[in-house]
Amino acid sequence: MKNISVICPGSFDPVTLGHLDIITRASKMFDRVYVAALVNSSKNPSFSIEERMELMREAVKGLPNVEVVSFEGLLADYCRRNKIDAIVKGLRAVSDFEYEFQMAIANKRLNPQLETIFLTADSDSMYLSSSMVREIGRYGGDISNFVPECVHDRIVARLKENR
Ligand code: PNS
Repeated sequence: MKNISVICPGSFDPVTLGHLDIITRASKMFDRVYVAALVNSSKNPSFSIEERMELMREAVKGLPNVEVVSFEGLLADYCRRNKIDAIVKGLRAVSDFEYEFQMAIANKRLNPQLETIFLTADSDSMYLSSSMVREIGRYGGDISNFVPECVHDRIVARLKENR
């Protein structure tokens, strides 16, 4: 059987329980999972790449076949260089579809060997997003149902600084 490596790319600004759900499910389905905290040029992040990687590392600590990475440049090129077979992404509501479909097509054009696999978001995460977490956290709201417990306090403290 082929050893299958996949990558879960995203801004993860910050990691949510929705991200962790997709990564955990991918880690059960595939041999090796890279989680890539990346710059999305159309977004203005609140957490630095280093902070996002640190929070993600803490969140995936219990998953032995998962590695957190970051890089500059195109995802499609990184996958080619590192022999990654597929991108795994979560799909929430219909609103995600157009954007994700566009990226999947572009990545396939750039690297025809690269597949994109979509996992449906868990019903609890259907309307959960990092931007919602930032907004609620910034105003002192309770985000404990939205982020991994092990990084909750760090995210809360950091969002308070940004207020
Ligand atoms: O969580 P996001 O912001 O929706 O993730 C988007 C991300 C980071 C996966 C996307 O912007 C990306 O892949 N960036 C790396 C550069 C790249 O390959 N861009 C072309 C994508 S078609």
